[in-house]
Formats: sequence, C-alpha cells, structure tokens
Amino acid sequence: MKNFTSVNDVSNLSELVKKAQEMKARPQAFNPLGQGKVLTLLFFNPSLRTRLSTQRAGFNLGMQVISMNADQGWKLEFEDQVVMNGDKAEHIREAAAVVSQYADIIGIRTFPSLTDREKDYADVVINKFIEFASVPIISLESAIRHPLQSLADLLTIEEFKKRDQPKIVLSWAPHPRALPQAVANSFAEWVQAAGYDLTITHPKGYELARTFAVKAKITHHQEEAFAGADFIYTKNWSTFQPYGQALPIQEDWTITPEKMALTNQAFFMHCLPVRRNVVVTDQVLDSAQSIVIAQANNRTYAAQAVIAELLNNKEP
Ligand code: CP
Repeated sequence: MKNFTSVNDVSNLSELVKKAQEMKARPQAFNPLGQGKVLTLLFFNPSLRTRLSTQRAGFNLGMQVISMNADQGWKLEFEDQVVMNGDKAEHIREAAAVVSQYADIIGIRTFPSLTDREKDYADVVINKFIEFASVPIISLESAIRHPLQSLADLLTIEEFKKRDQPKIVLSWAPHPRALPQAVANSFAEWVQAAGYDLTITHPKGYELARTFAVKAKITHHQEEAFAGADFIYTKNWSTFQPYGQALPIQEDWTITPEKMALTNQAFFMHCLPVRRNVVVTDQVLDSAQSIVIAQANNRTYAAQAVIAELLNNKEP
C-alpha cells in the first residue's frame, strides 16, 4: 500500500482487518515500528474522532504526531497555470512538497463543496497531495470517501456478528443540514469488498452514485429493509442528483425502537457525531443494541493497522 484513500488501495482486506485486531489486542506491541517517524495530520475541516484516534494510533506505534488546523491558514491553489492574484496564497505544488519534508506520513481531512459534483468526485485535494507529496498520504475523510471509518466499521461488524453472513442495512436518516455522501459511499464500498450482502434504504431521490452501490439491494421501504437485519448502519447524506441538496421528506426516517423491533435484534451503528432524536431516538442510542462507542473505539486500531502497513511498505 503506497497511500490509503479507499478500499482499492488495500491488497488483502481480511489481512488488514486481522492486523487491526492484533493492534487492538496489543496496542503497544508494535511501538518500535514508528520510532523516529513523524505523522503529520492536516485538517481542512473539523474532527473529534478522526483527529484523536489517528493521533493515538501514531502514539501507540511510537511516532511523533503533528496535528494542524489547515483551514485556519491561507487558502491553497489546486489549479495549474493560474495567476494567483486572488485569495489563494500558496500552491499545492509547494505546500505538499514542503509538508513532506516535515513528515513520514501525511493525513488529510477535507470535505466536499456539495456545490460542484464533478470537482468533489474528482477528490482534488487528496489526489493533488498524492501527486505532489513525496511521502504516503492517508485520507482522514475526503470529499467522497471515509476509509478509516469504514475499516473501523468492518472491524466492529467482525467483533459483533452472530452469523457468518449477517444482514447489513445502510439506512438514510434525517438531518437538518445537507451532509456529504462520503461515509455512506465508503461504507457501501467496504462492506461489498468484504463480501457481505448489503441492503441500502433511503427515500426516493437519495440514490448514491452507482459506482459505490454496485451489488447492493436498494429499497425505498425502510421497514421492509429492517426485517431480519443484524446490523443497522445509519447515516444522513445529501442528494447525488441534483447534487448536494436536502430534499423535504414526508415520511419518518428516524431510527426508533419500533423499527429496531423489526430486526433480528440488530446492532445499531453510526459513525458519530449523531443528532439525538433527529437521526435516532434516545431509546435506541442508549440501548444495549447500540454499539456506537465500541465503533468509535475501533477507529484507533483501524488507523494503527493502516499506518503500520504504510510504515512497513517496501515498495519504491
Ligand atoms: N466519524 C468521524 O469521522 O468523526 P469526526 O468527524 O469527529 O472525525
């Protein structure tokens, strides 16, 4: 693995999950691996879990970690051959090359604009860092994917599943703001790559990009999807077509105890942060079926497995 931006960068997914399980069993055992190495994390958008769990992962591996709010500095220019007489003070060509001198691995968090689908889906920020950095890049969530979250989600499903082929349901839920599609895209991509059946349920108009849900069953009937489910993974996302909108929805898509009662005593998952009594009721979130805290804990070991893989990489 040279960079980590999607499941497509992973040559052996079950081995990576196994590595994360080993990290969780003995978090400090791989400490010598990162000695003398620096992990530099640039946040163009806010984060609680990704920031702290990735820092913790670096510390567990013996690394020094630098974390920076990149949104508070000057704006970066990502286009070539432009006259930089506007509000962009530095070009990605210099910025990525310079940061590479202060880092052995760079992590980047960036959100989509939700106004320009073509640009967002080109994942410009992550891809330009890959192009101009001289060290490996880890996506800490990009405009269209959240791969560290998805690896932690798979790790959590492996820990909690009660049968080899659990029924996994990704359910859209309401939110007062238009949110990125990254978590849903990525969850769908990783669950399918792991060989699990996936059912996606959402209101009409909230179809994900087909490339992310190739083999998934799609239904607009949430209660039908919930029947017999072993995992309910909930997330809001905005529309793909027309892009980046929050359409008014008449039906109630909030996750409630009544809906969870239709499942096979399913576990409730969410990447967090979550809006209580909008996305999911207090009763579900505070129930024994909710595994959101365990899920968040696994973020550290997912990051640790990925960083270790990059540190061990012998490819030129
Ligand atoms: N799940 C997740 O990425 O959380 P943060 O936005 O807090 O990093």
